[in-house]
Amino acid sequence: MPCPLASGLQPSEKTLSSSSQKGGFRASSQGMNLHLPRRLRRLRRTANIRRMVRETHLHASDLIWPLFVHGGAARSEIESMPGVFRNSVASLVGCCQEAEKWGIPAVAIFPSIEQCLKDPAGSHGLSPDNLLFRAIRAVKEKCPDLVVIADVALDPYTSHGHDGLLSPDGLTVDNDPTVGILCRLAVLEAEAGADMVAPSDMMDGRVGAIRGALDEAGRTDVAIVAYAAKFASAFYGPFRDAVGSKTGKGAISKATYQLDPGNRREARLEVGLDELESADIVMVKPASCYLDIVREVRDHSPVPVAAYQVSGEYAQIHAAAKLGWLDYGRTRDESLVAIKRAGADLILTYFAREVAEEISRGRFFR
Ligand code: PBG
Repeated sequence: MPCPLASGLQPSEKTLSSSSQKGGFRASSQGMNLHLPRRLRRLRRTANIRRMVRETHLHASDLIWPLFVHGGAARSEIESMPGVFRNSVASLVGCCQEAEKWGIPAVAIFPSIEQCLKDPAGSHGLSPDNLLFRAIRAVKEKCPDLVVIADVALDPYTSHGHDGLLSPDGLTVDNDPTVGILCRLAVLEAEAGADMVAPSDMMDGRVGAIRGALDEAGRTDVAIVAYAAKFASAFYGPFRDAVGSKTGKGAISKATYQLDPGNRREARLEVGLDELESADIVMVKPASCYLDIVREVRDHSPVPVAAYQVSGEYAQIHAAAKLGWLDYGRTRDESLVAIKRAGADLILTYFAREVAEEISRGRFFR
């Protein structure tokens, strides 16, 4: 019996129309009958069969929950990120307890700093008892086992919203002086109790410099999650609303330090350098528009790969669902399965808590 697969799946003309023919098409009085030994629909027939053969599974342990904290006594919702709040320190701790309850191993904390505390040098970032350090201490006190990841960048603290110090002409971000400050910030975060520090600034050489600074300060077991392939993306818009880094002259361009969205080879180079500089985990960001990069990094990198489903990715699913144009739960779940399938070992997502709950109730992507 000729196998359609072996014959290249091409129904040959001679197999058409003759009812005595065994391979390919066979016309009968009931209509067309295909002789297909390989029918893929057999394993798609019922929900349980589909569950048996699903290749990609999301676990709560894959998730990192990004959380915002501000200095206010009450939490306030971020307009462009429904269901995401600038937390008080107390409500942040509550979120962390929720994370633990649903099996999420790690949170990433981002401070939203009052405008009056910002200056061009971002000096509040290094102020000993600032909001971020207080938040880290409060979380580690109540949730000592939860992995706390602290972002290393100056954008929450600078009046211009950039991730570092501006050059004297004000036209770009000055690389090396910025790295010096980031090293001090990372050490202070480690001293406050952060288990991991995550440089998100995209300065050259910062991973190696931060590793050196941490080691010198005796923090050899604090890991570095490098925002390695971080693209200059328009999908960060809602995050900049959240931390107020959009202020001043409207949208700011970070294209002089973040990757050009068209550059795949350069992303590989960035990841490779961060690995050489001893990054413990490398990250691709954003996720959904960059799944090719996630796959490529996973295929070539020996270290764990994280992907960040950023604020704009979260916002667009909410926005379309609010208009009734997309099914909220299905698009949310599909977006995360796709990131996992592309090769992410870890996913930072604002959906983390609700999705971890869905997973534990057996309702994720059903
Ligand atoms: C900045 C930082 C950004 C995000 C994380 N850290 C924004 C930016 O580069 O302007 C974006 C996260 C998101 O959009 O969810 N250091």
